[in-house]
Amino acid sequence: ADRYCVFGNPIAHSKSPDIHAAYAAQTGHAVQYEKRLAPVDGFAAAVQAFIAEGGRGANVTVPFKLEAVKVANALTIRAQAAGAVNTLHFTDDGIIGDNTDGAGLVADIVNNAGVQISGRRVLLLGAGGAARGVVLPILEHRPAQLVIANRTVATAQALADQFAALGGEGVVSACGYADINGAFDLVINATAASLGAELPPVPGTAFAPGALALDMMYGKEPTVFLEFASSHGAVVRDGLGMLVEQAAEAFAVWRGVHPDTAPVLQSLRGQL
Ligand code: ATR
Repeated sequence: ADRYCVFGNPIAHSKSPDIHAAYAAQTGHAVQYEKRLAPVDGFAAAVQAFIAEGGRGANVTVPFKLEAVKVANALTIRAQAAGAVNTLHFTDDGIIGDNTDGAGLVADIVNNAGVQISGRRVLLLGAGGAARGVVLPILEHRPAQLVIANRTVATAQALADQFAALGGEGVVSACGYADINGAFDLVINATAASLGAELPPVPGTAFAPGALALDMMYGKEPTVFLEFASSHGAVVRDGLGMLVEQAAEAFAVWRGVHPDTAPVLQSLRGQL
Protein backbone atom coordinates (compact mmCIF):
# COMPACT_ATOMS: atom_id res chain seq x y z
CA ALA A 1 0.00 0.00 0.00
CA ASP A 2 1.09 3.61 -0.59
CA ARG A 3 1.66 5.43 2.67
CA TYR A 4 0.20 8.76 3.81
CA CYS A 5 -0.23 10.36 7.21
CA VAL A 6 -1.46 13.42 9.08
CA PHE A 7 1.01 15.42 11.19
CA GLY A 8 -0.21 17.42 14.16
CA ASN A 9 0.31 18.09 17.85
CA PRO A 10 -1.97 16.96 19.40
CA ILE A 11 -3.15 14.37 16.88
CA ALA A 12 -4.87 11.62 18.91
CA HIS A 13 -8.41 12.74 18.07
CA SER A 14 -7.87 13.24 14.33
CA LYS A 15 -10.63 11.76 12.18
CA SER A 16 -8.47 11.90 9.04
CA PRO A 17 -7.33 8.22 9.15
CA ASP A 18 -10.97 7.05 9.23
CA ILE A 19 -11.94 9.40 6.42
CA HIS A 20 -9.04 8.35 4.18
CA ALA A 21 -9.60 4.67 4.94
CA ALA A 22 -13.17 5.12 3.72
CA TYR A 23 -11.98 6.89 0.53
CA ALA A 24 -9.41 4.15 -0.12
CA ALA A 25 -12.02 1.41 0.30
CA GLN A 26 -14.50 3.24 -1.90
CA THR A 27 -12.04 3.88 -4.76
CA GLY A 28 -10.20 0.56 -4.47
CA HIS A 29 -6.88 2.33 -3.92
CA ALA A 30 -4.25 0.56 -1.80
CA VAL A 31 -3.66 3.40 0.64
CA GLN A 32 -2.43 3.25 4.22
CA TYR A 33 -3.01 6.45 6.22
CA GLU A 34 -1.83 6.98 9.80
CA LYS A 35 -1.62 9.67 12.49
CA ARG A 36 1.81 11.02 13.36
CA LEU A 37 2.47 13.12 16.44
CA ALA A 38 5.31 15.48 15.47
CA PRO A 39 7.23 17.25 18.24
CA VAL A 40 6.46 21.00 18.24
CA ASP A 41 10.10 21.70 17.40
CA GLY A 42 10.54 18.71 15.08
CA PHE A 43 8.07 19.02 12.22
CA ALA A 44 10.58 19.20 9.34
CA ALA A 45 12.51 16.20 10.69
CA ALA A 46 9.27 14.23 11.07
CA VAL A 47 8.41 14.94 7.42
CA GLN A 48 11.86 13.85 6.23
CA ALA A 49 11.63 10.67 8.33
CA PHE A 50 8.28 9.82 6.78
CA ILE A 51 9.64 10.39 3.27
CA ALA A 52 12.59 8.13 4.08
CA GLU A 53 10.10 5.44 5.14
CA GLY A 54 8.43 5.67 1.74
CA GLY A 55 5.62 8.14 2.51
CA ARG A 56 3.92 9.56 -0.58
CA GLY A 57 2.09 12.48 0.99
CA ALA A 58 0.81 13.97 4.21
CA ASN A 59 -1.83 16.21 5.67
CA VAL A 60 -0.76 18.88 8.11
CA THR A 61 -2.82 20.25 10.96
CA VAL A 62 -2.38 22.47 14.02
CA PRO A 63 0.20 23.84 14.76
CA PHE A 64 2.27 23.03 11.65
CA LYS A 65 0.42 24.59 8.69
CA LEU A 66 2.79 27.58 8.49
CA GLU A 67 5.93 25.50 8.94
CA ALA A 68 4.73 23.23 6.16
CA VAL A 69 5.07 26.21 3.79
CA LYS A 70 8.80 26.24 4.51
CA VAL A 71 9.18 22.46 4.21
CA ALA A 72 7.72 22.52 0.69
CA ASN A 73 9.97 23.02 -2.36
CA ALA A 74 7.08 24.52 -4.34
CA LEU A 75 3.59 25.79 -3.51
CA THR A 76 0.35 25.62 -5.46
CA ILE A 77 -1.44 28.92 -6.17
CA ARG A 78 -4.04 28.18 -3.50
CA ALA A 79 -1.37 27.38 -0.90
CA GLN A 80 0.37 30.67 -1.73
CA ALA A 81 -2.92 32.53 -1.38
CA ALA A 82 -3.66 30.83 1.94
CA GLY A 83 -0.12 31.37 3.22
CA ALA A 84 -0.47 27.91 4.74
CA VAL A 85 -0.19 24.26 3.71
CA ASN A 86 -2.49 21.44 4.81
CA THR A 87 -1.45 18.93 2.15
CA LEU A 88 2.07 17.82 1.20
CA HIS A 89 2.72 15.75 -1.91
CA PHE A 90 6.07 13.98 -2.12
CA THR A 91 6.90 13.81 -5.84
CA ASP A 92 9.95 13.14 -8.02
CA ASP A 93 10.19 16.93 -8.37
CA GLY A 94 10.30 17.46 -4.61
CA ILE A 95 7.79 18.35 -1.92
CA ILE A 96 4.73 20.19 -3.26
CA GLY A 97 2.78 22.20 -0.69
CA ASP A 98 -0.95 22.55 -1.32
CA ASN A 99 -3.96 23.78 0.63
CA THR A 100 -7.34 22.06 0.26
CA ASP A 101 -9.14 23.74 3.18
CA GLY A 102 -10.77 26.51 1.14
CA ALA A 103 -11.79 24.20 -1.69
CA GLY A 104 -13.24 21.89 0.94
CA LEU A 105 -15.29 24.67 2.50
CA VAL A 106 -16.61 25.85 -0.86
CA ALA A 107 -17.44 22.28 -1.96
CA ASP A 108 -19.38 21.78 1.27
CA ILE A 109 -21.35 25.01 0.78
CA VAL A 110 -22.10 24.55 -2.92
CA ASN A 111 -22.43 20.76 -3.29
CA ASN A 112 -23.56 19.57 0.15
CA ALA A 113 -25.57 22.52 1.46
CA GLY A 114 -26.68 23.38 -2.09
CA VAL A 115 -26.05 27.10 -1.58
CA GLN A 116 -24.62 29.14 -4.44
CA ILE A 117 -21.89 31.70 -3.67
CA SER A 118 -22.06 33.36 -7.07
CA GLY A 119 -23.82 36.75 -6.86
CA ARG A 120 -24.35 36.42 -3.10
CA ARG A 121 -23.33 38.61 -0.17
CA VAL A 122 -20.77 36.83 1.98
CA LEU A 123 -19.63 37.79 5.49
CA LEU A 124 -16.42 36.18 6.71
CA LEU A 125 -15.79 36.44 10.45
CA GLY A 126 -12.13 36.32 11.45
CA ALA A 127 -8.90 37.14 9.66
CA GLY A 128 -6.48 34.54 11.03
CA GLY A 129 -5.14 31.43 9.31
CA ALA A 130 -8.53 29.76 8.94
CA ALA A 131 -10.05 32.83 7.27
CA ARG A 132 -7.06 33.49 5.03
CA GLY A 133 -7.28 29.97 3.64
CA VAL A 134 -10.80 30.40 2.26
CA VAL A 135 -10.72 33.84 0.63
CA LEU A 136 -9.36 32.77 -2.78
CA PRO A 137 -11.75 29.81 -3.24
CA ILE A 138 -14.71 32.03 -2.23
CA LEU A 139 -13.71 34.76 -4.70
CA GLU A 140 -13.34 32.18 -7.47
CA HIS A 141 -17.11 31.69 -7.14
CA ARG A 142 -17.68 35.41 -7.79
CA PRO A 143 -19.73 36.64 -4.81
CA ALA A 144 -21.41 40.04 -5.15
CA GLN A 145 -19.72 41.09 -1.93
CA LEU A 146 -17.18 39.69 0.52
CA VAL A 147 -16.93 41.52 3.85
CA ILE A 148 -14.18 40.37 6.20
CA ALA A 149 -14.96 41.34 9.81
CA ASN A 150 -12.46 40.97 12.61
CA ARG A 151 -11.83 42.15 16.18
CA THR A 152 -8.49 43.50 15.04
CA VAL A 153 -9.61 45.52 12.03
CA ALA A 154 -6.07 46.00 10.67
CA THR A 155 -5.69 42.24 10.13
CA ALA A 156 -8.97 42.08 8.22
CA GLN A 157 -7.95 45.15 6.19
CA ALA A 158 -4.62 43.56 5.23
CA LEU A 159 -6.43 40.42 4.10
CA ALA A 160 -8.98 42.44 2.11
CA ASP A 161 -6.18 44.49 0.50
CA GLN A 162 -4.38 41.32 -0.54
CA PHE A 163 -7.40 40.08 -2.48
CA ALA A 164 -9.02 43.38 -3.53
CA ALA A 165 -7.83 43.25 -7.15
CA LEU A 166 -8.90 39.64 -7.56
CA GLY A 167 -12.40 40.22 -6.22
CA GLY A 168 -13.21 43.02 -8.63
CA GLU A 169 -14.25 46.61 -8.07
CA GLY A 170 -15.66 47.11 -4.56
CA VAL A 171 -16.32 43.43 -3.90
CA VAL A 172 -13.88 42.81 -1.02
CA SER A 173 -13.89 45.00 2.09
CA ALA A 174 -12.95 44.84 5.76
CA CYS A 175 -14.51 46.16 8.97
CA GLY A 176 -14.85 45.69 12.70
CA TYR A 177 -17.87 43.89 14.17
CA ALA A 178 -19.57 47.13 15.18
CA ASP A 179 -19.46 48.33 11.58
CA ILE A 180 -21.09 45.27 9.99
CA ASN A 181 -23.87 46.73 7.84
CA GLY A 182 -26.68 45.08 5.96
CA ALA A 183 -27.70 41.46 5.63
CA PHE A 184 -25.71 38.56 4.20
CA ASP A 185 -26.73 35.36 2.43
CA LEU A 186 -23.76 33.46 3.76
CA VAL A 187 -22.02 34.06 7.11
CA ILE A 188 -18.90 32.02 7.81
CA ASN A 189 -17.36 31.85 11.27
CA ALA A 190 -13.61 31.43 10.77
CA THR A 191 -12.69 32.81 14.21
CA ALA A 192 -11.29 30.71 17.02
CA ALA A 193 -14.10 31.99 19.27
CA SER A 194 -16.09 28.74 19.21
CA LEU A 195 -13.14 26.91 20.76
CA GLY A 196 -13.69 28.92 23.94
CA ALA A 197 -17.51 28.72 23.60
CA GLU A 198 -17.48 32.42 22.75
CA LEU A 199 -19.58 34.30 20.24
CA PRO A 200 -17.99 36.70 17.75
CA PRO A 201 -20.04 39.91 18.26
CA VAL A 202 -21.87 39.76 14.94
CA PRO A 203 -25.24 41.59 14.90
CA GLY A 204 -28.34 39.42 14.48
CA THR A 205 -29.35 41.65 11.56
CA ALA A 206 -26.37 40.33 9.57
CA PHE A 207 -28.34 37.18 8.68
CA ALA A 208 -30.58 37.71 5.64
CA PRO A 209 -33.79 35.67 5.64
CA GLY A 210 -32.81 32.06 4.86
CA ALA A 211 -29.11 32.83 5.15
CA LEU A 212 -26.65 29.98 5.58
CA ALA A 213 -24.49 30.28 8.71
CA LEU A 214 -21.44 28.03 8.73
CA ASP A 215 -19.06 27.47 11.63
CA MET A 216 -15.72 25.86 10.77
CA MET A 217 -15.82 24.13 14.16
CA TYR A 218 -17.89 21.04 14.82
CA GLY A 219 -18.97 18.93 17.75
CA LYS A 220 -21.85 16.96 19.15
CA GLU A 221 -23.67 20.15 20.12
CA PRO A 222 -24.05 23.26 17.93
CA THR A 223 -21.59 26.07 18.68
CA VAL A 224 -22.80 29.30 20.32
CA PHE A 225 -22.41 30.97 16.93
CA LEU A 226 -24.74 28.46 15.28
CA GLU A 227 -27.26 28.77 18.15
CA PHE A 228 -27.19 32.55 17.70
CA ALA A 229 -27.51 32.33 13.90
CA SER A 230 -30.37 29.88 14.23
CA SER A 231 -32.22 32.23 16.60
CA HIS A 232 -31.97 34.88 13.88
CA GLY A 233 -33.48 32.67 11.23
CA ALA A 234 -30.38 31.26 9.57
CA VAL A 235 -29.92 27.72 8.30
CA VAL A 236 -26.92 26.35 10.18
CA ARG A 237 -24.06 24.07 9.25
CA ASP A 238 -20.96 23.05 11.22
CA GLY A 239 -17.44 22.29 9.97
CA LEU A 240 -17.74 18.52 9.63
CA GLY A 241 -18.58 18.78 5.93
CA MET A 242 -15.55 21.01 5.35
CA LEU A 243 -13.36 18.42 7.11
CA VAL A 244 -14.61 15.61 4.89
CA GLU A 245 -14.34 17.73 1.74
CA GLN A 246 -10.80 18.99 2.38
CA ALA A 247 -9.78 15.35 2.84
CA ALA A 248 -11.43 14.39 -0.46
CA GLU A 249 -9.52 17.20 -2.19
CA ALA A 250 -6.27 15.93 -0.68
CA PHE A 251 -7.09 12.38 -1.78
CA ALA A 252 -7.66 13.73 -5.30
CA VAL A 253 -4.29 15.55 -5.24
CA TRP A 254 -2.49 12.33 -4.29
CA ARG A 255 -4.52 9.71 -6.14
CA GLY A 256 -6.02 11.52 -9.14
CA VAL A 257 -9.58 10.53 -8.21
CA HIS A 258 -12.13 12.50 -6.18
CA PRO A 259 -14.05 10.21 -3.81
CA ASP A 260 -17.77 10.43 -3.05
CA THR A 261 -18.00 12.31 0.24
CA ALA A 262 -21.70 11.90 1.10
CA PRO A 263 -21.56 8.43 2.73
CA VAL A 264 -18.44 9.39 4.71
CA LEU A 265 -20.00 12.62 6.02
CA GLN A 266 -23.14 10.73 7.01
CA SER A 267 -21.18 8.06 8.84
CA LEU A 268 -18.98 10.60 10.70
CA ARG A 269 -22.07 12.57 11.69
CA GLY A 270 -23.48 9.45 13.28
CA GLN A 271 -20.31 8.98 15.33
CA LEU A 272 -20.17 12.47 16.89
P1 ATR B 1 -6.81 30.35 13.10
O1 ATR B 1 -5.65 29.74 12.39
O2 ATR B 1 -7.73 29.37 13.76
O3 ATR B 1 -7.55 31.31 12.24
P2 ATR B 1 -5.55 32.58 14.40
O4 ATR B 1 -4.70 32.82 13.21
O5 ATR B 1 -4.97 32.72 15.76
O6 ATR B 1 -6.18 31.13 14.35
O7 ATR B 1 -6.81 33.54 14.27
C1 ATR B 1 -7.83 33.52 15.22
C2 ATR B 1 -8.98 34.37 14.70
O8 ATR B 1 -10.07 34.26 15.61
C3 ATR B 1 -8.65 35.83 14.61
O9 ATR B 1 -9.41 36.41 13.56
C4 ATR B 1 -9.11 36.35 15.98
O10 ATR B 1 -9.39 37.74 16.01
P3 ATR B 1 -8.19 38.79 16.24
O11 ATR B 1 -7.38 38.80 14.97
O12 ATR B 1 -8.86 40.08 16.51
O13 ATR B 1 -7.41 38.28 17.42
C5 ATR B 1 -10.37 35.55 16.13
N1 ATR B 1 -10.86 35.37 17.50
C6 ATR B 1 -10.34 34.59 18.47
N2 ATR B 1 -11.09 34.62 19.59
C7 ATR B 1 -12.14 35.44 19.32
C8 ATR B 1 -13.28 35.89 20.04
N3 ATR B 1 -13.49 35.48 21.30
N4 ATR B 1 -14.14 36.74 19.44
C9 ATR B 1 -13.93 37.15 18.18
N5 ATR B 1 -12.86 36.77 17.44
C10 ATR B 1 -11.99 35.92 17.99
